[in-house]
Amino acid sequence: MRGVVFEDVCRVRVDDLAEPTVEEPTDAIVRITTAAICGSDLHFYHGKAPLQPGDPMGHEGIGVIEEVGPAVTRFSPGDRVVVAFDIVCGECWFCEKGQTSLCDHFRTLGIGTFGGDLGGAQAERLRVPVADTNLLRVPDGMEDERALFVGDILTTGVYGAGIADIGARDTVAVVGAGPVGFFAAQAALRHGPREVLVLDLRADRLALMEKLGFTTINVEERNAQSAVDEATGGRGADVVIEAVGSEPAWETALHVVRRGGTLVVLGMYVSERVELQLGVAWNRAVRFVFAGVTPIHAWWEEAMAAVADGSIDPLPIISHTLPLEDASTGYELFDRREATKVLLKP
Ligand SMILES: NC(=O)c1ccc[n+]([C@@H]2O[C@H](COP(=O)([O-])OP(=O)(O)OC[C@H]3O[C@@H](n4cnc5c(N)ncnc54)[C@H](O)[C@@H]3O)[C@@H](O)[C@H]2O)c1
Ligand SMILES: [Zn+2]
Ligand SMILES: [Zn+2]
Repeated sequence: MRGVVFEDVCRVRVDDLAEPTVEEPTDAIVRITTAAICGSDLHFYHGKAPLQPGDPMGHEGIGVIEEVGPAVTRFSPGDRVVVAFDIVCGECWFCEKGQTSLCDHFRTLGIGTFGGDLGGAQAERLRVPVADTNLLRVPDGMEDERALFVGDILTTGVYGAGIADIGARDTVAVVGAGPVGFFAAQAALRHGPREVLVLDLRADRLALMEKLGFTTINVEERNAQSAVDEATGGRGADVVIEAVGSEPAWETALHVVRRGGTLVVLGMYVSERVELQLGVAWNRAVRFVFAGVTPIHAWWEEAMAAVADGSIDPLPIISHTLPLEDASTGYELFDRREATKVLLKP
């Protein structure tokens, strides 16, 4: 079968790969009908984590089950399913508690040895371990384009808003209007706040959010704190969702949250360090919520329901749909930020 593999820093190629087979009784083989390139794939594309040449890539995929192992009980061949980007055991203490991203046997698709040597979703077929836990059925009639992101970024937005404790009179500020911010802002609206502000430094990203009806703040053009203060009677945002994952974005988030407010850190951090004056955080009584990796399995049913009832619309974020064979072009477009989201069709 054909699939995307890492070749070198900033180079991927589509190659002939071994057909995946049922290796464990709990496995399913999914024929991928649509895959996507994720912001996290770019970390690997840039060589920030040790992928070996030839390692399969991608963790966002949707498709049709072709085969199931004898211990799979919830799915059968022919079922349309979306795949969770984090592959978990479903039975350890953390999984039982719904904190599936803290699973004792946590693995990730499409990131080589680092993720447990699983295949990648940017391919014609994919082996999904513990299929009963790591697959979700797609409602009849829902297109791939709507359901696909439930396996990753859409549910990440739902999770970020879900742990933010948004109240009816709250102003929510979402820092970052990339795909995660796009979904976090829509998900925040479902909690019925007074207003959702979206902050970014790219006019094109903000223009998309404006089209969806959000009030936007370009942090290149305006001081973020004064802009948010102006929108909130001088108080600051009740809830801030940081959906970037960089020190400047963290600083912005800290500046725009009101005292007694909540700051959800949804963007990903690895080795970054910041100085935090504890007395300031303490006196301002800011509630920090570090999201960690999204426990997809605990939130994806709510996320799928939000797509089904139309309260979250994934379509405006998709800028390009390419054949799988053109994956390398897709990565380049996404890397140059000329694409907001690239889909690949095997
Ligand atoms: N918690 C999780 O499980 C999870 C899941 C998926 C993605 N993520 C993380 O979420 C973050 C966002 O993902 P994405 O795919 O939307 O990324 P992205 O890079 O496509 O989007 C980030 C956006 O932030 C904007 N930005 C950059 N610096 C900024 C600043 N200082 N202030 C305001 N805006 C700024 C960029 O212009 C861009 O629009 C990443 O760190 C990603 O790794 C976390
Ligand atoms: Zn992802
Ligand atoms: Zn587990």
